[in-house]
Amino acid sequence: MAFNNSRIGNSKLAEQGLNSWQWANSRMGVISRILNEFGKTKPLNQTKLGLCLHITKETSVLVMAALRLGAKVTICSANPLSVQDDIVAFLFSKGVSVFARRDETVKQYKEGIKEVLNRRPEVLVDDGSAMHIVAHSSGSEGIVGGTEETTSGIRRLKILEKRGKLKYPVIGVNDALSKHLFDNKYGTGQSTMDGIIRITNLLIAGKNIVVCGYGSVGKGIAIRARGFGAIVTVTETNAHRALEAHMDGFIVKRLIDAVSEGDIFITCTGQIHVIRKEHIIKMKSGSILANAGHFDIEIDTKYLKSNCDDRYLVRRYLECFRIRGKRVYLLSSGRVVNLVGSEGNAPEVMAMSFANQLLSIIYICRNHRKMKRAVHDVPMEIDQYVALTSLKSLGIKIDKLTDIQLKYSNSY
Ligand SMILES: NC(=O)c1ccc[n+]([C@@H]2O[C@H](COP(=O)([O-])OP(=O)(O)OC[C@H]3O[C@@H](n4cnc5c(N)ncnc54)[C@H](O)[C@@H]3O)[C@@H](O)[C@H]2O)c1
Repeated sequence: MAFNNSRIGNSKLAEQGLNSWQWANSRMGVISRILNEFGKTKPLNQTKLGLCLHITKETSVLVMAALRLGAKVTICSANPLSVQDDIVAFLFSKGVSVFARRDETVKQYKEGIKEVLNRRPEVLVDDGSAMHIVAHSSGSEGIVGGTEETTSGIRRLKILEKRGKLKYPVIGVNDALSKHLFDNKYGTGQSTMDGIIRITNLLIAGKNIVVCGYGSVGKGIAIRARGFGAIVTVTETNAHRALEAHMDGFIVKRLIDAVSEGDIFITCTGQIHVIRKEHIIKMKSGSILANAGHFDIEIDTKYLKSNCDDRYLVRRYLECFRIRGKRVYLLSSGRVVNLVGSEGNAPEVMAMSFANQLLSIIYICRNHRKMKRAVHDVPMEIDQYVALTSLKSLGIKIDKLTDIQLKYSNSY
């Protein structure tokens, strides 16, 4: 359905979206503090922002804050299945051009990215770098810089940078401590278990859960799965991370050695084909496959689709594949299970991620002329500000180093 310059699902949902925005906003105190501090000077005055993010209630808090700071916003979704239609309708009612709807096709999702770029944004705010990559191949005139939300997106941009092809400076928001130590770990840990439970409604206690990857996301999922009473096995390719998982008390194995015992498999590596034919054929019947990594490439769904005798939808986002006399269940088509099955990460952690986003956008607007065409870290003063302001908004006070301690830190 076309509404002016937007493609949205259902404008009647705007009121529900308003309530959802208010609910998330009330739990994202850091953003309110930034608005109190910067609101009057309107640092994003008339800046055209192009966003490609998961369109959730937390994202609407970022968008509304950017509008308050003077920006003009156009947004599409970072994933065809993660869109919250009430938020789309709410943002549209606030004058934002939105190109997304729940369960849109991959073609529509790609069109959404083009629609945003057609409006000639000056700063791109991306999650996974799909929009950055399209901007690089189809013309990036007028773009002065960008930000990138997630691990997988930064990996792609760093390759562009290495090959000398990056056309504008980008701040890798994911790598801020106040982002990945909290959003990736506590946020995705909780919402991934939530997504699996909402889709399957199965008991987690006593299940053998295999977590592939023990980065920030894997750590969060493993601790939350253990909290539910699961027996958790971790698989890794990095020796330090594998040791960390071992000393955190998890079973560590090669995936091929864990497949015949696992009940639920969760990938969160950022890699391709982590679960593939050799694993699937050894799994027991009834095994459940879920992915929490950014792209739908971690489980070889093509193998499942082209080799199954039969497949059918058991219920929303839960598909059964009959393969080699067994049933293997795939959640959310192999796409981010926490955003498809659940509502994404909780507002308390997204507040920190989006505070980094907002301050990085302001930083780019002010400094892009002197920034190299490279992937930059979030400036430490921003990262520190977000952590301290988050503590303040939680009402937590911490100690300060005394003069003697400061002197001691600087002496040998
Ligand atoms: N769903 C969400 O809401 C959400 C949130 C944050 C990040 N992410 C995504 O999740 C993924 C992981 O993010 P992260 O920050 O934990 O990344 P990370 O790089 O810190 O961790 C990934 C880990 O996977 C391991 N790994 C790589 N290939 C492997 C393989 N074949 N088998 C087992 N382990 C392997 C790596 O050694 C590393 O330790 C990325 O795609 C990221 O973009 C998703």
